[in-house]
Amino acid sequence: MDYTRRRFLQTSLGALAAAAATGLWPVPGQAAAEHRVELVAQAAKISLGEGPEFEAMAYNGQTPGPVIRVREGQSLNISLKNRLLRPTTIHWHGLPVPNPMDGVPGVTQAAVPPGESFTYRFRARPAGTYFYHSHQGYQLDQGLYGALIVEPARPVGGWDREEVLLLADWVVADGAGLAHVPRRPAMGGMMGRGSAGPGGPLAEPYYQGYAVNGRLYPHGSPLKVKKGDKVRLRLINASSSTTYDLCLAGHRLTVLALDGQDVTPRAFDVVRLAMGERVDVEFVADNPGAWLLQANDSGQGESGLAVAVLYQGAEDRAPVRPDFHPGLSLATYWDLAAARPVAHPAGPPQRWYRQVLSGGMHSPYWSINGRLYPNSERLAVTPGDKVRLSYLNRSMMPHPMHLHGHFFRIVNFALPPERWLVKDTAIVEPMRRLDVEFIADNPGDWFHHCHHLYHMGAGMANLVTYTGA
Ligand code: C2O
Ligand code: CU
Repeated sequence: MDYTRRRFLQTSLGALAAAAATGLWPVPGQAAAEHRVELVAQAAKISLGEGPEFEAMAYNGQTPGPVIRVREGQSLNISLKNRLLRPTTIHWHGLPVPNPMDGVPGVTQAAVPPGESFTYRFRARPAGTYFYHSHQGYQLDQGLYGALIVEPARPVGGWDREEVLLLADWVVADGAGLAHVPRRPAMGGMMGRGSAGPGGPLAEPYYQGYAVNGRLYPHGSPLKVKKGDKVRLRLINASSSTTYDLCLAGHRLTVLALDGQDVTPRAFDVVRLAMGERVDVEFVADNPGAWLLQANDSGQGESGLAVAVLYQGAEDRAPVRPDFHPGLSLATYWDLAAARPVAHPAGPPQRWYRQVLSGGMHSPYWSINGRLYPNSERLAVTPGDKVRLSYLNRSMMPHPMHLHGHFFRIVNFALPPERWLVKDTAIVEPMRRLDVEFIADNPGDWFHHCHHLYHMGAGMANLVTYTGA
């Protein structure tokens, strides 16, 4: 049985049991009312807490957009109204929705023209930390994103406090990452941050600010804790080009879930989060004081992205910064395993695709197997196939590869397949190989790409296409 349906069945049975026990829960099958949300995409003047106001794009006048929080299995009805001057769509990053709801312009739907609307309807499952964002052009970099939290059907408690933290890189200028912004000088090609020149794809801008929930430190809300509190953080990297290494001074972070899917909890000093990835972490407030949860831009040094963690009585103290010294433990995929066994068929895959990731080195283009989207290959699959993707990164930059419509498993020979991590976005480190496997259980044409927005825009994408059985 595929992962999603298996989880759903388990939780439906769980909900049924809970309903019987308490009489509080809707009986599965007797669909609870749809959860309705309206998202208006519109240009907005925004401020990150300091510096001039600038024009970005926002949902309902705010960036990040409103947090959408629902219970697993609930039906969502989200109406997108486009009040921008350009077409737009919304993608539900990580959720395996039906193909026509996936929000990829030119692949799963025609982009919604200015002045028009589109209604997205799907069931929210499985539980986890997700986000939504525009999949049109560079709108994600201009502010069109928000958190989507799917609570387990059976509530799991145990935290005194839970926070959703969306991390984003910003260019503090009108257009927020696009027009009229300073660009890294040409010939920075080695790191892929060169200017593409006229006619080429857009190169990544110089980011000037790294915000948490739309605020630069110290303008955001601090996390206020009391000694003994157990705090859960749902961290979502909605940045276009920045991978963060997060560290909380004075504490360790226990990883609870990656891309919304539970792992066997394990504590680390540093947690790495690439674009499109989510991590749920927990910490116990057992070290009174004023501390900083801070992120380094992995590879670039200090990013300035930070949130203060203030204990009662230490509110006025200057927070202590973490010391990123060598020897700190960093959470890697190889240190973590699925919390519960999740069935994964044994035996060789029915389809096996090698995906060579290359680019940079003075080229403005980023490719998979030497080809650029939309002239890239199609990865054909048949319903029920186990599909293996072997990524070979032949570039000097990490690529967070994201598959729409499915979870994949990170192949790890040190673990039995049912404990392999369940994810939808995975970092392929420079000059390294990484293999993932997924079960073809959600028919349609699905986008598959690097979640570095400027790599995606420069060609690093292709399609997984279902063919007849
Ligand atoms: Cu966040 Cu194509 O996705
Ligand atoms: Cu990339």
